[in-house]
Amino acid sequence: MADLHISMGDVTADLPISEGTVRATGLSAIPTERGGLTSYDPGFVNTAACRSSITYIDGEAGILEHRGYPIEELAEHSTFLEVAYLLINGELPTASELESWDYQVNRHRLVHENVYDIINSFRYDAHPMAKLMASVASLMTFYPSSRKIADPESRVLNSFRLLGKMPTLAAATYRQSIGRHAVYPSDELGYVENFLAMLFQSQQRVWRADPRLVRALEILFILHADHEQNCSTTAVRTVASSGNDLYTSCGAGIGALFGPLHGGANEAVLKMLREIGSLDRVPEFIEGVKNGKGRLMGFGHRVYKNYDPRAKVIKKAVDDVFEVRGMNPLLKIAVELERIALNDEYFVKRKLYPNVDFYSGLIYEALNFPTEMFTVLFAVPRTAGWIAHWQEQLTDPDQRIIRPKQIYSGSERRTYVPLEDR
Ligand code: CMC
Repeated sequence: MADLHISMGDVTADLPISEGTVRATGLSAIPTERGGLTSYDPGFVNTAACRSSITYIDGEAGILEHRGYPIEELAEHSTFLEVAYLLINGELPTASELESWDYQVNRHRLVHENVYDIINSFRYDAHPMAKLMASVASLMTFYPSSRKIADPESRVLNSFRLLGKMPTLAAATYRQSIGRHAVYPSDELGYVENFLAMLFQSQQRVWRADPRLVRALEILFILHADHEQNCSTTAVRTVASSGNDLYTSCGAGIGALFGPLHGGANEAVLKMLREIGSLDRVPEFIEGVKNGKGRLMGFGHRVYKNYDPRAKVIKKAVDDVFEVRGMNPLLKIAVELERIALNDEYFVKRKLYPNVDFYSGLIYEALNFPTEMFTVLFAVPRTAGWIAHWQEQLTDPDQRIIRPKQIYSGSERRTYVPLEDR
């Protein structure tokens, strides 16, 4: 095993390097004028906060794998619930395990009637992510035993509950915004098809979407299921680290996902495409971005310095959806933006490529979702990843309450000045 040798004046230290890391606590043995040496890493760009066996990303090579399985293979052969099983349990299920898993998740799709009252108490035009965040956090009040986080049975039961109820809550936030009664889940429909029915059913007994559209949404769900230590997963882990239940932790995750730099980017992409409006305005827009007038939304990633593998899969799904629903003229603008950006020195030098959000919004729009629902469509499948990480966080003996350090940059000690003397 190699060591990192540090020498500062008379003081030397040898920090063992293992798994490509040094233990940051090892630095604290090296004295400085401010106490033991600490690493400074805003945004945790180069800090591993946990050991995880769920998802592997090689950002330089554009590789994403869940429990060792490449995302492209999962998107082609799997269902969303099977991927959720894989993420949470570590292995692909057998046929009977999958049958029982699907049954357990789907039987928990109903929510307490009071949850609908909570959602209905919001203004009709409130953002659905805010309504979703509140309703998910409220589930802890309906299931107080979810606080028994050391009990594996309670963890499993509440995982089924949340995975099952997410589409129901997400659909209810949308129905409330259009002044329609919530639609109850149907045993006749699978997870994704039922979600679409709860959103769009009108006067039919059972509403069935075109199977090609159901599969396209299923693929999007698979692509969004997990992405290792992203901002929302880190929020879930942080809240879990103080001993919190799944609902409280995932409520925080939804808040983190809401931001335009994370899950809100797909919404921002559509706004951007509409603002550009026509092909001839693309070069002017790109010039604006290069001159600091905003960002090319749906481009760039903290981890990927190559084409996001999820964006490649989505680009294929776009064709299927447009075959059913007809071409969206915004697609032409998106393709032109990508073409220009991938050949422009500004983007090439910074390794900025399309990410998962660049094309997903176009599919959501073709599926008739209003723009504000886009981030909700990210939150529903990401719940599978959040559950897997919540569970891993709680059962990892290395983990402690998450509490980073700071570099204090405020005033030196001073004496209180009474109000009348200021
Ligand atoms: N358009 C133009 N310039 C960009 C962009 C962009 N989309 N993204 C990064 N840059 C530039 C940035 O200005 C900086 O340039 P300079 O070195 O000259 O100051 C350089 O690239 C590095 O950017 P950064 O902000 O330090 O990178 P980051 O790792 O902190 O941020 C990001 C990653 C995803 C927040 C950022 O690329 C971004 O804002 N992208 C647009 C929003 C977006 O599409 N978000 C979805 C991410 S994928 C979904 C998810 O996993 O959440």
